[in-house]
Amino acid sequence: MKNSEVTRRRFLAASGAAVLAGGAVAQGAVAKKAGKLALLGGEPVHKGGWLGWPVWDPNDEQSVLDVLRSGVWCRLAGNTVSTFEKKYAELLGVKRCLCTVNGTNALLTALNTLDIGVGDEVITSPYTFIATYNVILDSCALPVFADTDPETFQLDPDTIESRITENTRAILPVHILGLPADMDRINAIAKKHNLVVIEDACQAWLAEWGGKKVGTLGDLGCFSFQNSKHLTCGEGGAVVSNNEKLMDRAYSIHNCGRPHGTLTGETEYPITGTNRRLTEIQAAILLGQMKRLVADTKRRNENARYLTSKLQGIPGIVPHKLYPKVTQAAYHLYPLRYKKEEFNNVPREKFLKALAAEGVPAADGYGPQYRWEGLKSSLASKNFTRAFPAERLKRYWDELNLPKNDQLCQEAVWFGQNMLLGEKSDMDDIANAIVKIHENRDKLG
Ligand SMILES: Cc1ncc(COP(=O)(O)O)c(C=O)c1O
Repeated sequence: MKNSEVTRRRFLAASGAAVLAGGAVAQGAVAKKAGKLALLGGEPVHKGGWLGWPVWDPNDEQSVLDVLRSGVWCRLAGNTVSTFEKKYAELLGVKRCLCTVNGTNALLTALNTLDIGVGDEVITSPYTFIATYNVILDSCALPVFADTDPETFQLDPDTIESRITENTRAILPVHILGLPADMDRINAIAKKHNLVVIEDACQAWLAEWGGKKVGTLGDLGCFSFQNSKHLTCGEGGAVVSNNEKLMDRAYSIHNCGRPHGTLTGETEYPITGTNRRLTEIQAAILLGQMKRLVADTKRRNENARYLTSKLQGIPGIVPHKLYPKVTQAAYHLYPLRYKKEEFNNVPREKFLKALAAEGVPAADGYGPQYRWEGLKSSLASKNFTRAFPAERLKRYWDELNLPKNDQLCQEAVWFGQNMLLGEKSDMDDIANAIVKIHENRDKLG
């Protein structure tokens, strides 16, 4: 499987491919531990597929129809987007929320709002969807990668300070896979060095750090509502913050630079902006989807805890850890590390194939994207060679050293969020399929 977000999304779609009628949850029987591998012609451990995604009901259909029939589809003339913004802000316990066309543009709006651009440096996580890199590059700023803590899959705070230069303006932590990053340490480093913090919470709806929702702990937080997401309207995003002035500026930027709240001017366009407005129809979908989010999140956490208890002790399987201060995770994905040494050196790809044959789809996660063509071509572009001294760009590549992330990219295995909405017996199936593969590891050589 190729390492890309497209792949992640395809995986999320595929893991829900055998959709059960009416979106019902699969009732997998607890499998016998041993037996012939399904890859070699045996019976699969898990039969009946997994929950499809997204999920909707006749109420969702009705609210879309209501907006459609009103003829008011743009937020400038309606109140569906603003109603969603108010409710989502309440759910997160934050003063303000602004919807955008997607998570990428939520992040861009955050960078624009904080005036981060040409010649600036932003410290971020290498283990993320490419949009996190792209928005920094689109702003003609340098994405400077700190290393990843392989136990939690999150940005390792120990590796941030050594990356700070006189041009560093921001830290952009990502709550990747829906698991919270260490916001206490990240915020403390930012404060010490006078940096702003933009949280990429695009996979982390309702995840909590010390009882507070992630996305509300830095200066600005960003969410995605893309089709694979727990809260979705196909494409959509949001910026949130307790800082009213910043949010007025964000609103203005997303609405062509028109005045908003405290951001006033003598003319119709006091600042330069763009159009990143969500539609009323999308917001109607979000309002319906939001009704499921709290209960679904609780269920994902319960099943993730149960799955971890089942996986612990299987040789060569290292489940992720949550930081002690995490009070709730979003679990967009459930990650673990696969140590092939304990599996007779069976390569991860083969392990994933064997799992899929047992009826348990899994993905290999992100690759070392910082070494791929996209970043190289950006930094060699006209914009970057004008914005940064040649010596800085050379040093960038000399200093790109991410040993822990490199290793993680080779060992990660992910299960999709939809699988965590199953029954305990489904979690048993996941664990039993892995045990079965381990017991038959010699036959996969
Ligand atoms: C970590 C992360 N950041 C940013 C984004 C961008 O969001 P969108 O796809 O809505 O533009 C995503 C989307 O998957 C993401 O996972």
